[in-house]
Amino acid sequence: MLIAEEATNESSSLLLSERMIITLCNGKGGSGKTTLSVLLGSALVEAGHKVALLDTDPQHTATRWIEEIGGLELAVPGQDYGALFIDTAPRLESKEVTDSIRRADVVVLVTSPSPADLFTSRDTASLIHREGAQDRAHVLFNQIQPGTILARDLEDMAERIGLPAFKNTLRRRQAYQHAVLVGWKSLGGEAREELFRVALEIVGSVKKQTRKVAN
Ligand SMILES: Nc1ncnc2c1ncn2[C@@H]1O[C@H](COP(=O)(O)OP(=O)(O)O)[C@@H](O)[C@H]1O
Ligand SMILES: [Mg+2]
Repeated sequence: MLIAEEATNESSSLLLSERMIITLCNGKGGSGKTTLSVLLGSALVEAGHKVALLDTDPQHTATRWIEEIGGLELAVPGQDYGALFIDTAPRLESKEVTDSIRRADVVVLVTSPSPADLFTSRDTASLIHREGAQDRAHVLFNQIQPGTILARDLEDMAERIGLPAFKNTLRRRQAYQHAVLVGWKSLGGEAREELFRVALEIVGSVKKQTRKVAN
């Protein structure tokens, strides 16, 4: 089955019936929060869902991006969405960041695999633990370069950060940078598939939590 089809089937029961809040965070700027909120949101739109983005970063990069190229809606207060992606500022001390973590069904700590990012990722994980959101949180490795040393030990890196990692990762691709200009339609099949896989895993992680509570 095509991943796009799978994304539609797998996520529809949950996404269409209840609102899911997905917060992307990291105290470090440049980890990919804005890029991935827009592109993962667009992937779920492609899979047929009503998705919006809430831009809590005062720089408003995501807002400008969406105004320019579309892809998904900007969140309007009071409106209901199948999924709401919250893009956050790289400022762990900010109230918007803590609030966005607290209200999320899934917290996605976006980081590159570089050891240079370990310390801020660890600080971000500590905040997630302080807010009691650790059971809803995963590390999402972004900007992976297959075959490099840093791509090898992601499990170890996640352990050092202090949260489990999503199995699926995102490669470093110029296509993701280019998408800021032209949107989802500029992405090739591999990039789209990679985004669908991650989006599916994010949605599936809520299903698992629900199951845990139900059991
Ligand atoms: N997987 C990726 N491959 C290539 N470039 C990426 C990837 N993820 C992010 N980038 C680039 O990294 C830079 C920072 O990304 P951005 O989403 O603005 O980070 P943040 O919102 O965390 O500050 C941007 O130039 C973006 O295009
Ligand atoms: Mg950003």
